[in-house]
Amino acid sequence: MVSRIIPVEDFDLVIFGGTGDLARRKILPGLYRRFFAGQMPDEARIIGAARSDMDQMGFREMVREAIFEFADKKYQDNKKIDRFLDHIDYVAIDARGEAGWEALKGKMRADVVKAYYFSVAPSLFGDLAKRLQSFGIADDKARIVVEKPFGRDLETARQLNKDLAAYFDETQIYRIDHYLGKETVQNLMAVRFGNILFEPLWNSQYIDHIQITVAETVGVGGRGEYYDKSGAMRDMVQNHLMQLLCLIAMEPPNKFEPDAVRDEKLKVIRALQPVPAHHIVRGQYDATADEPSYREDAGDPRSRTECFVALRAEIANWRWSGIPFYLRTGKKLRARGSEIAVVFKEAPHSIFGPQDAKSPNVLVIRLQPDEGMTLQVTIKEPGPGGMRLVDVPLDMSFAEALGDEVEDVPDAYERLIMDVIRGNQTLFMRGDEVEAAWAWTDPLIQGWIERHDVPKPYDAYSDGPDDSAMMLHREHRRWREIR
Ligand code: BG6
Repeated sequence: MVSRIIPVEDFDLVIFGGTGDLARRKILPGLYRRFFAGQMPDEARIIGAARSDMDQMGFREMVREAIFEFADKKYQDNKKIDRFLDHIDYVAIDARGEAGWEALKGKMRADVVKAYYFSVAPSLFGDLAKRLQSFGIADDKARIVVEKPFGRDLETARQLNKDLAAYFDETQIYRIDHYLGKETVQNLMAVRFGNILFEPLWNSQYIDHIQITVAETVGVGGRGEYYDKSGAMRDMVQNHLMQLLCLIAMEPPNKFEPDAVRDEKLKVIRALQPVPAHHIVRGQYDATADEPSYREDAGDPRSRTECFVALRAEIANWRWSGIPFYLRTGKKLRARGSEIAVVFKEAPHSIFGPQDAKSPNVLVIRLQPDEGMTLQVTIKEPGPGGMRLVDVPLDMSFAEALGDEVEDVPDAYERLIMDVIRGNQTLFMRGDEVEAAWAWTDPLIQGWIERHDVPKPYDAYSDGPDDSAMMLHREHRRWREIR
């Protein structure tokens, strides 16, 4: 099967921070892949805007290098890259001053979609938004794209929302959480709302608990000092894990449309209960023989910032009352793997006798790597000797099931940028959603500060601190293995 390319409208995309790390790693290679796939309109233009005093040719060379460094080998075709570079322009600009703005204005076309990607520090969002308006390049077809971190607490997020709202309507603001652009994350909605099978069981009557794990093997390495100012709660839980939680727990929206979906997600976040101290575990990885500890990476021997969090959340509504949602994420864990596991209750009565009682059904949705789904079911062990039961996985890897079609699946950034051009906000966070997420995480972070909480050390490349396992053990449950 061939992947279907849906054309997009003509556009001018300006990347503020166009020479920065995110632009080089993700945005520009992603746009090139869309060009390679034939999705870029002939006249579309991508304009890098940054402080560096470089010209169009210099920027084009930087883009070529970025493609060679970060795009897959199979896309590294110089002729194609040359044609892609014809779409690329550059303007040196001062976000806080006047320099460069007239030049940018001169490059923007009327009547096409104008997307302004703010790949810069949040402290510049307001300045950029203001200048886009004052230079008259923010018409009805303009939209802005902002990255996380969207604030570092409720107050700063509110301020950012205000800064943007002064110049742009909410329908023009695209807040990226790249997890929402991941193929399998969207599949969560397809699985839940495209099948009749799961929804009747999707509640506290049939589900025992849900585990959400986003495990990484990388440490904080070179960005330790920056990371140390945020920590896993702000870096991963408040956004990525929260989004996964929303998609798994929300009520069915009546349409797959931006506000219908986002209204339902917001209700989940607002229904989250405060988390007591004994339901959160924080950790920091120790040194190995050859690798530094988290504190060494962070450059602060007394750092109290966590690079691992496990917590038990509850959602107070009819569907989920009393059902634990265990969330965990961390750096330098045993393996890289993200998954959501829905653990069902045991059958109400065993007709086979206690000696053959098997594990409950588990539906696992694997986000990465090897995206797919597994449903663990109990069957009869083959052969004579009576009714012996065994647990087996009904396993589906999307790559195997869909073959060629998954080959050219756009990565999260490509998909999200194309959604910006299309004007589809479904996979972007609304301002009130982000604020509600901070309103839930702020008191947890504040609690650590007040209690002078010190993260627990854990062995690098393990499952995290022992207390994380204990938290589930106390409730006669256990984490799924990180593999
Ligand atoms: C980013 C975090 O948002 O997500 C990083 O800032 C983290 O710390 C990354 O490593 C994980 O993304 P992915 O797509 O590799 O799972």
